[in-house]
Amino acid sequence: HAADAHRTDLMTITRFVLNEQSKYPESRGDFTILLNHIVLGCKFVCSAVNKAGLAKLIGLAGETNVQARIWAGEEQKKLDVLSNEVFIKALVSSGRTCVLVSEEDEEATFVEQPKRGRYCVVFDPLDGSSNIDCGVSIGTIFGIYMVNDSHEPTLDDVLQPGKNMLAAGYCMYGSSCTLVLSTGEGVNGFTLDPSLGEFILTHPDIKIPKKGKIYSVNEGNAKNWDGPTAKYVLISFSRALFSAFTSMQLPHSFLELRYVEKCKFPKDGSSSKSLRYIGSMVADVHRTLLYGGIFLYPADKKSPNGKLRVLYEVFPMSFLMEQAGGQAFTGKQRALDLVPNKIHERSPIFLGSYDDVEEIKALYAAEE
Ligand code: AHG
Ligand code: MN
Ligand code: MN
Ligand code: MN
Repeated sequence: HAADAHRTDLMTITRFVLNEQSKYPESRGDFTILLNHIVLGCKFVCSAVNKAGLAKLIGLAGETNVQARIWAGEEQKKLDVLSNEVFIKALVSSGRTCVLVSEEDEEATFVEQPKRGRYCVVFDPLDGSSNIDCGVSIGTIFGIYMVNDSHEPTLDDVLQPGKNMLAAGYCMYGSSCTLVLSTGEGVNGFTLDPSLGEFILTHPDIKIPKKGKIYSVNEGNAKNWDGPTAKYVLISFSRALFSAFTSMQLPHSFLELRYVEKCKFPKDGSSSKSLRYIGSMVADVHRTLLYGGIFLYPADKKSPNGKLRVLYEVFPMSFLMEQAGGQAFTGKQRALDLVPNKIHERSPIFLGSYDDVEEIKALYAAEE
């Protein structure tokens, strides 16, 4: 029976990627080896996250710190620091990497010979850190580039537009541990079977709904959503002048406010959108991918470039969105066309269902 086959013929992530790569005769299994090391990092973090609650117990036993810290050998370490160490070590020891960029490290890591390979990995080892201590979903995000010739690796090898990524993905440590991956041929989701210690294909060929019913944004920032450009300053000034002379308030003309207003009070007779915001990009994007809708982290007065980092947050998620049939927009351009100048550069981001992002793009275009 087909059902039996499903239960006994397990498509592990390794088997899946080996199948995909066998289409390329020149492939020597290097990508599979690299991915296996990333997967090892994810399994480690997953197991550490599951034990994080026990840190409280350790705390009661004498330690004063009750934040999510777990014991690693002799030392008690913060979960994000520990996750970073595990990923760096796993990636270097894979023998397949040359440049590593982590959210946790100011500087990039250059892998020395004889461990050097041709892949560059950019990653956020633990995303959503404000959610660690209350047990809400957090994740790991990664993107992979490949150096084409055999020059000495430099930062320029990672300061590449997102469309040059070879693969991208994330792992979400939620009610289950889910790894979502794209090697540029669609998006596939795998769930960790803890009893096997293997990621099994559970969400083949994920496609994001063309239009969604959810918007996801930190609306608490709304008072800072005044655009950063000179034009906006001028608009604020004229509005202030107008109000001073007429004692009337002009409605806010700013894009994000107008968009969010539209989600809540649609004028075209459509029903209003639901608001969902977790504050872990991985969880918010995962929901957006499966249910549809839009995720926004715009620029604001306090963060004129937005908050999320281009290389290891914006690019991998934009890559996955496009591969699933959605879009990712920065407010100026297609997100994957951005060329970063610094490894920790930030950018505003609007990503999700094709039609929903189209609406934001139209608002921006009208403002030009
Ligand atoms: P990190 O935990 O890696 O520093 O990233 C947190 C990010 C991202 O996960 C999330 O989308 C965003 O911060 C939430 O920011 P706000 O708290 O400003 O909403
Ligand atoms: Mn992050
Ligand atoms: Mn992080
Ligand atoms: Mn951080």
